[in-house]
Amino acid sequence: MLDAATLQQLVGLVEHDAAHDPFPVSGWDAVVWACGNATQAAMFYQHVFGMELVAYSGPETGNRDHHAFVLTTGAVRFVLRGAVDPDSTVADHHRAHGDGVMDIALEVPDVDRCVAHARAQGATVVVEPHETSDEHGTVRTAAIATYGDTVHTLVDRSRYSGPYLPGFVARTSPAQGAQVFRALDHVVGNVELGRMDTWVDFYNRVMGFTNMAEFVGDDIATEYSALMSKVVASGDHRVKFPLNEPAVGKKRSQIDEYLEFYRGPGAQHLALATDDILAAVDRLRAAGVQFLDTPDSYYTDPSLRARIGEVRVPVEELQRRGILVDRDEDGYLLQIFTKPLGDRPTLFFEIIERHGSLGFGKGNFQALFEAIEREQERRGNF
Ligand SMILES: [Fe+2]
Repeated sequence: MLDAATLQQLVGLVEHDAAHDPFPVSGWDAVVWACGNATQAAMFYQHVFGMELVAYSGPETGNRDHHAFVLTTGAVRFVLRGAVDPDSTVADHHRAHGDGVMDIALEVPDVDRCVAHARAQGATVVVEPHETSDEHGTVRTAAIATYGDTVHTLVDRSRYSGPYLPGFVARTSPAQGAQVFRALDHVVGNVELGRMDTWVDFYNRVMGFTNMAEFVGDDIATEYSALMSKVVASGDHRVKFPLNEPAVGKKRSQIDEYLEFYRGPGAQHLALATDDILAAVDRLRAAGVQFLDTPDSYYTDPSLRARIGEVRVPVEELQRRGILVDRDEDGYLLQIFTKPLGDRPTLFFEIIERHGSLGFGKGNFQALFEAIEREQERRGNF
């Protein structure tokens, strides 16, 4: 586990009094994916993204419904599910949404307190609080519904020492690239047109999340494409959820494209924190990862240097890799976005290196939009 000082630097924590929090959250537990082929996806995330296989569930362990591969990197945990039984709900999720996130699971100290508060605020409880046990101890979990078909499983693992959850066995693999990520910074949700404020209100009321300063209105847009975005965060900002909705433009925005191909709201990108984005990008490119192109004009524009001031590396090093920079009153951040990870133009990764900034790269939205639209145009969806 990462200590508080390291996490503070990587993902930007703030002081928080959990005693007065109606829905205390300790941190991320796992991002649970539905994959078309989890057996192969597990190899991909190990070889290409340097993740480590730590646990497994499947037919050999008594789970005849699906395979589940638990991968970690730094403090990040992914669970990749792939259906074995064609009637599995994992297959249904994949049929509807393609490779995507089923569950953004959060670790909480008191599952029952969270569920009681969520229910009182009108949330849909999809799994009631219950316990599961094995020789490693007991886990108490429940789940509440959020946007689209996505859920938040709430996990109290304080009495558990196993590799993941009861029913999983420890599993290792020689297949692993170099680790490049330290922590999960934020998970962005794309929601329906006109529903952003509904979901901001959901996280405020149901989960006690607070609004962060960053707000992107449809004033930030290209001629053809627009979005609106607000950010909610858990008390100490360990868990941050930017929420996007499409805004009306002359052509379809990237959010519209996502909503069409995902068949509704869902997780759009996972931002992975690193303390060396240059090395991370070099390794990932060498492994074949494709990133969004950033136009040279982004770097040669004199207003960029005025906007970003001094950063830890020469702008030329960033330009060579297509890394974006943004600065606010607290500091700066470096970020870059991959192309979609699966077959549909939906889920992708952001890689982020923070230097004091608590933002999300608002100043880069314009440059990013233009880069994404060039990709949309190549796919014939613009
Ligand atoms: Fe982001």
